[in-house]
Amino acid sequence: MRIAVAGGTGTVGHHVVDQATRAGHEVVALARSNGVDLTTGDGLRAAIEGADAIIDVASAQTLSARASRDFFGSVTENLLAAARGADVHHVALSIVGAAAAPHGYYAGKLVQEQRVAASAGHWSILRATQFHEFAAQVLAQAKILGAHLVPRMRSQPVAASEVAAALVQIVESGAHGDEPDLAGPREERMADLSRSYLRRTGSADRVLEVRLPGALGAAMAKGGLLPGSDARLGSQTFAQWLDQYRGTGGADDR
Ligand SMILES: NC(=O)c1ccc[n+]([C@@H]2O[C@H](COP(=O)([O-])OP(=O)(O)OC[C@H]3O[C@@H](n4cnc5c(N)ncnc54)[C@H](OP(=O)(O)O)[C@@H]3O)[C@@H](O)[C@H]2O)c1
Repeated sequence: MRIAVAGGTGTVGHHVVDQATRAGHEVVALARSNGVDLTTGDGLRAAIEGADAIIDVASAQTLSARASRDFFGSVTENLLAAARGADVHHVALSIVGAAAAPHGYYAGKLVQEQRVAASAGHWSILRATQFHEFAAQVLAQAKILGAHLVPRMRSQPVAASEVAAALVQIVESGAHGDEPDLAGPREERMADLSRSYLRRTGSADRVLEVRLPGALGAAMAKGGLLPGSDARLGSQTFAQWLDQYRGTGGADDR
């Protein structure tokens, strides 16, 4: 199959590209670094020409609800419009619990889910919990007086490589609609994971766990982003992922 991966250079995107390529598919990664801007649509039509499926794993680094809505709204519209009329399976990756806590970054995920589900063609939505890499991503967000601010957050993180495998499997099976949620094997506390990550990378930086204000903070702290009992569970724990980490800024198996 010909598969276009929106955000194919990102944390989960590079796993999707690697795994789909290894499975024998013809894969194109859509990213600004490859000459495709998904928010403006520049370069998009030519890049997805002949695609059987689009896997959307693009993302923006923002905590602003407005910026997130703008990003996911325009990316989703542009991808759906570019493929309109062709028989393209649109597969979107969202986040477990985002629709029930549509604040900050998650506001954009709700917009994305709604636009995909309202589209006329074949679509699938997979919702995953935080990736193991999230413990590092969150460290880049806020630092005060030498300490990283990490939200009080109950999470059941999953390996990005296992999420990628599930996305490729959805495309190959032709399944569509809402997929069962995908989570990692055990619940963790995000501040503990960020501290472990810093230790593993030789950093002496401190982590300060803070409860984020408002409904988003409440959802994170109370477990609103945890999977339900019907979720599929991946097998790699955060500790196993960290054991293999090679200090390249991403997962070991890049
Ligand atoms: N991180 C998590 O823990 C987690 C958990 C569950 C679900 N998700 C979802 O998984 C998806 C991927 O997240 P991620 O953490 O893997 O993202 P990421 O590492 O931040 O990667 C983002 C990707 O999007 C591309 N991109 C950003 N803006 C673009 C633009 N204007 N035009 C074209 N490409 C653009 C980036 O490439 P360029 O910069 O080269 O353009 C990059 O390939 C998101 O939908 C996210 O909500 C994430």
